[in-house]
Amino acid sequence: MKRGEKTILILTLVLVVGLMGWNFHRQRESTANDSSIPFYSNASAELSREAGELIRKYECRSCHTLWTLRDMLRAVPAPALDGIGSLRDREWLFAYLSAPNPQEILPSRLKKEFQMPSYAGLPEDERRRLAEYLASLQVKDWYLKETRTAECSALTGESCP
Ligand code: HEC
Repeated sequence: MKRGEKTILILTLVLVVGLMGWNFHRQRESTANDSSIPFYSNASAELSREAGELIRKYECRSCHTLWTLRDMLRAVPAPALDGIGSLRDREWLFAYLSAPNPQEILPSRLKKEFQMPSYAGLPEDERRRLAEYLASLQVKDWYLKETRTAECSALTGESCP
């Protein structure tokens, strides 16, 4: 083998190993960041099951996205409930679900048929369970940060920290 060929071979090897190392490093970083689903719940298995039944029974997902899923038949522009517990606490959620007119708490610009219905008529323990479960739905910090940064860039047209 000529000297020039040897040098090229060695350089190529160094490059390949370097790229592999970099890729490995990147992969490790992204798992540390867990870039899959940014939402989680800290509810007990029992509460998740009970609240899950209520959410199915009252068809909250016919309007809301939850567990990053939503029913495909209707396209109501309701806020997603994933991570809602990072925004609202249990008392607020209980009061909201118990309000005879939820639009007094959160004003709505939607047509009446798409607005949040009142669940004041549900038994109190069901409202409590729903509120407790919703409060357990959290969003991971890094996602909140990325969302804020994206929002800030969109609003200001500049790159935000
Ligand atoms: C008919 C569609 C519809 C259904 C069914 C529905 N919601 Fe809503 N919900 C909305 C809309 C729309 C809003 C935003 C406020 C508004 O426009 O009235 C909302 C708001 C909320 C909020 C406040 C979100 C925030 O940003 O603070 C919570 C919590 C909530 N809903 C929970 C529920 C739960 C729990 C159920 C089932 C028991 C449910 N919703 C069923 C349409 C719906």
